[in-house]
Amino acid sequence: MTEKLLEAHDVSVDFRIGDEYQKAISGINLNIERGKVLALVGESGSGKSTFATSIMGLHNPEYTKVNGSIQVAGKEVVGLTEKEFDQIRGVSVGMIFQDPLSSLNPLMKIGEQIAEAITVHDKGSTKVKNRVRELLNDVGIDEEKRVADQYPHQLSGGMRQRVMIAIALANEPDLIIADEPTTALDSIIQAQILDLIKEIQKKKDAGVLLITHNLDVVAELADDVAVMYAGQIVEKGAVEQIFENPKHPYTQSLLKADPSNVQPGEHLYAIPGTVPSLAEMDFSKDSFLKRVPGLDEAVVNATVSDVLTEVEDGHFVRGNAWKNFNIDEQAQRKD
Ligand SMILES: Nc1ncnc2c1ncn2[C@@H]1O[C@H](COP(=O)(O)OP(=O)(O)OP(=O)(O)O)[C@@H](O)[C@H]1O
Ligand SMILES: [Mg+2]
Repeated sequence: MTEKLLEAHDVSVDFRIGDEYQKAISGINLNIERGKVLALVGESGSGKSTFATSIMGLHNPEYTKVNGSIQVAGKEVVGLTEKEFDQIRGVSVGMIFQDPLSSLNPLMKIGEQIAEAITVHDKGSTKVKNRVRELLNDVGIDEEKRVADQYPHQLSGGMRQRVMIAIALANEPDLIIADEPTTALDSIIQAQILDLIKEIQKKKDAGVLLITHNLDVVAELADDVAVMYAGQIVEKGAVEQIFENPKHPYTQSLLKADPSNVQPGEHLYAIPGTVPSLAEMDFSKDSFLKRVPGLDEAVVNATVSDVLTEVEDGHFVRGNAWKNFNIDEQAQRKD
């Protein structure tokens, strides 16, 4: 039996803007099994962080509505109070954010911040001190005594991200969410941090939701991939299925627009147009089709179910437009 560490069913998030609520994501169905890495990809503004934040209960209920069902390690989290979420955050699910500097407290020593994350009452005990050192070691920091005594600004970006990972792992969560964990780092440090996430994930047999714009990272770390556009999942499947047999026009376009796919002498393909704002979103349609030059109006405006179709074992795609779409032909167009 596989154990599902994340089971998201029909998740939607609405933000209050002025007097109205506007939907940012809708109909999200995603699962992560123990020991698996699911990469969530899509352009800026597609709703990746909105989804991740809803798992952690970090949306402000005063102006955000989260609907649907999200089970973390078998426990429903939609509708939990802040107090109830406190029992889950950091315990069943840990999150690594993009910018460690804004997530760490500038006035607290590193050791204290990690101790703070460990769920025991006596933060000053020898047991907690030893655990802090052990965690720093786990994330590849050898001089753990010195680092524990420093403040965030005294560390490099890579070291700060290691500390954030130590905090996320303090209570050995089953599920780790990493939202662009390396974007702020240079490429050598990026590789080290990604290796670290992978190593920890293997060691703990955790599930990982990895949000990234870097498709090389996806290819290296992910078991499964979900592609998000304008608040909806347009395609999902095993990493080989998505990379070798992409179906949805958006997935094909994203792969084509990836810098590592440029052939010598070829220009990098740029996807025409931009991601719609919340006010422009229309969840009853396949909204990416607006950005595909040359399509029939009828195809662009057709109502499309948000239930995905299984095109091969475990590989799901939204709508039918992919049946007549080929990115190489599209990229040749001169209009
Ligand atoms: N608190 C909020 N209030 C209103 N709108 C929001 C809020 N948070 C996000 N949005 C909007 O929701 C949409 C999705 O944003 P989100 O940050 O989830 O995208 P993303 O895929 O994580 O993008 P990026 O790759 O840039 O991190 C965007 O249109 C964004 O402007
Ligand atoms: Mg984001």
